[in-house]
Amino acid sequence: MRKHIVAGNWKMNTTVPEGVELAKAVVAKAAEVPSDVKLIIAPPFTHLAPVAEVVKGTAVGLSAQNCADKTKGAYTGEVSVDMLKSVSCEYTILGHSERRQYYGETDAKLVEKIHLALAAGLSPIFCIGENLDEREAGKHFDVVTEQIKNVLYTLTPEEMANVIVAYEPVWAIGTGKTATAEQAQEIHACCRKVLAEKFGALAEEITILYGGSCKPSNAKELFAQPDIDGGLIGGAALKAEDFIGIATSF
Ligand code: PGA
Repeated sequence: MRKHIVAGNWKMNTTVPEGVELAKAVVAKAAEVPSDVKLIIAPPFTHLAPVAEVVKGTAVGLSAQNCADKTKGAYTGEVSVDMLKSVSCEYTILGHSERRQYYGETDAKLVEKIHLALAAGLSPIFCIGENLDEREAGKHFDVVTEQIKNVLYTLTPEEMANVIVAYEPVWAIGTGKTATAEQAQEIHACCRKVLAEKFGALAEEITILYGGSCKPSNAKELFAQPDIDGGLIGGAALKAEDFIGIATSF
């Protein structure tokens, strides 16, 4: 039985006091969520330490949105995996399309990051997905296959067992356009097949999330698909009620 996960990616939203309030609201409503659904929140770096205090001792997990590709030293503006661990982070998003698109994150950089994150004991939420041009050219299966092979094929099965995959079609992120449940399912099934080619039966255990304009009104249909194990939620994670509404959609 795969883990169901609903993770909230707050991106560059909320001040620290607002983020602490949002985390408290999520914790207050977390009891509404079935116990087999893991809730994770990913606030900005500045919020992690105070939000860690809010989620401490609760079932809500704490994630970063990124980490450095170096361990320590003269890398101005970067945040290391050890720093994340020191504020009780358990997860980090890696390879989000906004990082790939706006900050030049390449698969080669992501290989560095995912190995550091895993070595530090963080579980990466590794994002993949095609953009609109790639989708329209019918290349979506090839794009995700290559992203998986370039990065996840460098892991051992023991390492892979700690990775969460998130399929996020770039054309659906923040656009209000959701992939249909069928479109999402066929890509999720493809990802699982590509993972199985390298990792065998372990692929059946890997949680694969859908992301891209996921909201309470469409989560149920998406989560009903056999290979969709939850969601990576952006906009709708900024309201505790919507976030919890999504997490109660299994
Ligand atoms: P969205 O973002 O839900 O606002 O589309 C999802 C994501 O980028 O993780």
